Amino acid sequence: MKMHLAFDVYGTLVDPQGMADKLRGDVGDAAAGVSQLWRQKQLEFSFRRGLMRVYENFGVVTRQALQTAMSLKGFTLAPDREDALMRDYLALPAFADAAQALHALQGRYPLFAFSNGSHEALEQVLGHNRLLPLLDGLVSVDDIKSFKPDPAVYTHARRATGALEQPLCLVSSNGWDVIGARAAGLMAIWVQRDPAVQFEDWGLAPSAIIPDLGQLEATVDELALACRSS
Ligand code: LAC
Repeated sequence: MKMHLAFDVYGTLVDPQGMADKLRGDVGDAAAGVSQLWRQKQLEFSFRRGLMRVYENFGVVTRQALQTAMSLKGFTLAPDREDALMRDYLALPAFADAAQALHALQGRYPLFAFSNGSHEALEQVLGHNRLLPLLDGLVSVDDIKSFKPDPAVYTHARRATGALEQPLCLVSSNGWDVIGARAAGLMAIWVQRDPAVQFEDWGLAPSAIIPDLGQLEATVDELALACRSS
């Protein structure tokens, strides 16, 4: 039994709040608030599209969320600035602990990115941060035209990572993603990047909780050992 690892991307390996810096020239001091609302709307739109079965590439979802966030905060964005921000989104910064954690696990466990982002977007943002060569592969929901937390996308991740008969463990800072994975029968480590954020009690607890990716290797080793001896 070989534990396979599937890393959420936005919020776990790369930081969507990195867009606040890029928005400052457009909205000044409101940049952090616009960036947070942008992310919130991006997720809301993906949940709604998944339920409605009206799929669009996550890039389209992200652009529509940007337009909505700007308009809700009372700003307008010229088309060329919107295009520039969407390009910047493909170069979001990685979290400082991401590369080291992947380096430590590389070759020890099969490592995959598993995200709402399209293959092309994942190649760009992970390539930009030099994380791409540390991974064994990319799994995008775009393959099955739905979004997390549709159980079908977690089942797809099992198939696409070759972990149908092996344990697959999601690593995600998004609590709703962890709950989605657990509901679909995956293991899942919650990265509690913000100590003020509580895990929502749906009776679907994470397999483990870590404060950042610095503790990932030891935690994965423990879970893998427990899998082998059960
Ligand atoms: C992802 C987003 C939802 O990478 O965080 O799938």
